[in-house]
Amino acid sequence: MEHELARELNEVLQGTTPGALLSGMGKRLYFPKGIIAQGAEAKQFGRVADGTLGIAVKHKTPLILSPLQKQAPLLSAGEIVSYAPTAGIPALREFWAGELRRKNPALGDAAFSQPAVVSGLTAGISAVCDLFLDEGQTLLAANPSWDNYALIAQARRGGNLRLVDMFNESGMDLSALRKAMTEEAQKTGFVRVILNFPQNPTGYSPTVREAKEICAMVRGIAEKGAGVLVICDDAYFGLRFEEDIEENSLFAYLADMHENVFAAKIDGATKEDFAWGLRCGFVTFAGKNLSGSHYDVLVKKTMSVIRSTISCSSTVAQNMLQKIYSIDADTLRAEKAACRAVIEGRYKKVRALVDAQKGRGALQPMPFNSGYFMSFKCKNVDAESLRYKLLHTYGVGTIAIDKRTLRVAFSALDDECIDEVYALIYRAAEELAE
Ligand SMILES: Cc1ncc(COP(=O)(O)O)c(C=O)c1O
Repeated sequence: MEHELARELNEVLQGTTPGALLSGMGKRLYFPKGIIAQGAEAKQFGRVADGTLGIAVKHKTPLILSPLQKQAPLLSAGEIVSYAPTAGIPALREFWAGELRRKNPALGDAAFSQPAVVSGLTAGISAVCDLFLDEGQTLLAANPSWDNYALIAQARRGGNLRLVDMFNESGMDLSALRKAMTEEAQKTGFVRVILNFPQNPTGYSPTVREAKEICAMVRGIAEKGAGVLVICDDAYFGLRFEEDIEENSLFAYLADMHENVFAAKIDGATKEDFAWGLRCGFVTFAGKNLSGSHYDVLVKKTMSVIRSTISCSSTVAQNMLQKIYSIDADTLRAEKAACRAVIEGRYKKVRALVDAQKGRGALQPMPFNSGYFMSFKCKNVDAESLRYKLLHTYGVGTIAIDKRTLRVAFSALDDECIDEVYALIYRAAEELAE
């Protein structure tokens, strides 16, 4: 039975594209007026004492073990061990919203929801699928894609992940995506697609022209009446290594595109701030003509996923990030640029090595221009056999994505070993060629 609070939230979304896209779980979820809501209220008005939350307090500050405090001497006890708000620390959310606009000039004045903090991007993708992907529904993604999409969309949500070829030898061929979107729109009236750029595992990002083509395609489908959910997985945002790459997230163009288009942006500190294990990601929604109350409900629905799974994200991680973001933006930006330059240097090196081999041997590089990775199509070699040989004969770790795709994370290769690693990859492939 639908909970009264869920019904209230669903009523607000009625008549909107996100409202029509909600899954069964998305419809059922609500944010209780229970402990968290009452605790937040007490924080504001409990002048004398706050006996709401299950934490231990002395002189109004949380108790903390001294060795734990010593690990993070610049943070207060509360900044380390107290619970963070369900959707994250407000100042951090505010900062991320500002950054989102700064990094995506194409957003202009388009509205979007206040980013909600999740425990890494995986949790963000999973939350959006909980809310908007039901059993039997199809989620379109690139072929090949990050393997966790299958785990989330299929194994967890019971949906159908349809991998669509969109890369050719030099860039993108969007005809298969157009066909798949059109088929979905005709069959169900809805299209759900996750687009990840820079992409894992190819390392490809659309050029300005290709980004325009993708957007025109989404607009075309929406104009014909289908509701379109585009999940922008921007994990590797900012790692552009060629001039012709679109600098904005597709989210910037989708945010105010058409009433039938609903965009969810998943991004975070994981790769952008070289903080993989801190587990800090963000979920942000946008759609043309959605109002503040629509966004409030979408954030509440996200909070209800968070509350019912992990309850809230790590306080210490959020505060560490919030501190570095607020201390000295220029120094931080310079340091991040220096880290990105390390990866770009590796990209350039790999680019040159791979270009020198063009057209030769069993390995065909898929297009790559950004991010952490590049992948080879293995023409007449089994990718798993190649991976195995590379690891067990030559001591080089790579990933076999599927039968014909081998992924190399050049971001994780020290500069001085890149020549050797690629020489070994080509050598092993030659030795195995069928
Ligand atoms: C494409 C893509 N999306 C999302 C993620 C998940 O990021 P996180 O570690 O923040 O969960 C990754 C991590 O490897 C990724 O490659």
